[in-house]
Amino acid sequence: MRHFRLWDVQDVAVFLSIASYICDLAGAISIHSPQRSLTRSVQEDVFFSVDVSCDGVPTIQWNFMSGAVSRTIGTWQPGAYTNITVDYSSRVQSYDNGSMGLSDLRLQDGGYYVITVTETEGSSKDTGFVLKVNEALYEDLQYLSVSALALACVAALLMLLIWLLDKAYRRIVAWRRRRQMPETNATELQPL
Ligand SMILES: *[C@@H]1O[C@H](CO)[C@@H](O)[C@H](O)[C@H]1NC(C)=O
Ligand SMILES: *[C@@H]1O[C@H](CO)[C@@H](O)[C@H](O)[C@H]1NC(C)=O
Repeated sequence: MRHFRLWDVQDVAVFLSIASYICDLAGAISIHSPQRSLTRSVQEDVFFSVDVSCDGVPTIQWNFMSGAVSRTIGTWQPGAYTNITVDYSSRVQSYDNGSMGLSDLRLQDGGYYVITVTETEGSSKDTGFVLKVNEALYEDLQYLSVSALALACVAALLMLLIWLLDKAYRRIVAWRRRRQMPETNATELQPL
């Protein structure tokens, strides 16, 4: 009998957890995101694309986490208000479907981004994104080698120009010398 009751309790517990799981699945909040893992370079922009839907007006909150750092980026309600933290106000763009754009990335922006959607009744759901920010080292090197090549070309052109000018100058000097001789002779001869 006792054994039987124990089973009953377990059954109820299993039933309750299944029921709550089904309720979660059927929960009105849904967060669709095509891509959860993104890689960008420093100074680039990133767009965390989500499509949020729920009963009533959702409250959307984005948080950033990295190591010991955890901060709120912004909170908004489509059509009602947008509240972006001062640190992010110049770089964050909020969208009605819950998406968030972050521009001019820095190395410190790499980390975990969590969107939390809260319904009017208070239930909420969240989804995380991983952002990897790379140093634009490769492009820097490319830029450096291109500028070095450009400088070398300019230097070569300048050297060629100097060489040509030098040649021309020598020729002019030689030509003048050759011309001056008979001229001086002529002027000397003129009074005679
Ligand atoms: C959310 O809205 C933005 C801007 O209207 C759009 O570019 C983006 O694709 C949308 N995201 C999803 C997952 O539908
Ligand atoms: C916006 O955020 C600030 C600081 O986090 C808070 O004091 C203020 O109440 C918020 N405003 C709204 C409309 O949520």
